[in-house]
Amino acid sequence: MRVIRSITELDLPRHGVVGLVPTMGALHGGHTALFRAGRSDSDVLVASLFVNPAQFSEGADLAQYPRDLERDLALAEAEGVDVVFAPSTEEMYPPGFATWVEPAGAAEGLESEHRPRHFRGVATVCLKLLNIVRPEIAWFGRKDAQQVAVVKQLVRDLNLAVEIRVVDTVRDEDGLALSSRNVLLSPSEREQALALPRALATRDPARARAILTAAGLTPDYVEVADLDGPTLAIAARVGSTRLIDNIPLPEGDHS
Ligand code: PAJ
Repeated sequence: MRVIRSITELDLPRHGVVGLVPTMGALHGGHTALFRAGRSDSDVLVASLFVNPAQFSEGADLAQYPRDLERDLALAEAEGVDVVFAPSTEEMYPPGFATWVEPAGAAEGLESEHRPRHFRGVATVCLKLLNIVRPEIAWFGRKDAQQVAVVKQLVRDLNLAVEIRVVDTVRDEDGLALSSRNVLLSPSEREQALALPRALATRDPARARAILTAAGLTPDYVEVADLDGPTLAIAARVGSTRLIDNIPLPEGDHS
């Protein structure tokens, strides 16, 4: 496995299928599900590992974001990743950087109500990563359902020559969706966080909200939205940690 830090070093073979799995590191079973999907359908599988400052609204959230490069590299290697692209912030946003992708449409509402510049950061970094790696296929997780909708819209609107594939949410045995932020939960917060999958299981926004608040979570939103089909989407805070999760609803279940 090659580990590459600079864009000029990234000299990928242009024959066969190049696949990309973009990540912010702190890898877990959700990421490895994307690597496995990517491994089986790519000749050269690239994983990017970049904690993108542009998509964080609060400095504290960025500073707190878990980082463990050594462990991430071992995990990526074990999953058969061929190339890890792990640029520095300066490599991605050099002095003078001043061009942004401003997604509307799918980026409006939900996350954007609470993280105003989040999807501008996501869309900009995804466009950069897709241009730098130039994959035929890129994999994203349904756990971030609005992100999937924004990335698909980006590809459509800007005519990017890449196929976006979506992998289902990977959960712990108790139902909690795997997330890099789960390591920030204390044992009792982890218990409380189980209200999220319980709330989603109701498939009903009012009942879901009641379950979350009864468990002591603070919901940012509990909404049915069209994210590749009707979806019940939740963001809620457990102590100082913000978690998101969603569940697809049967078609025609729009409220
Ligand atoms: P990150 O949170 O590291 O997630 C990387 C990819 O893993 C995303 O596509 C995300 O949806 C997927 N993922 C995370 N948890 C998952 C789970 N439990 N099951 C399935 N897939 C899961 O999302 C980002 O990074 C960034 O916004 C990024 C796209 C890399 C742009 O900076």
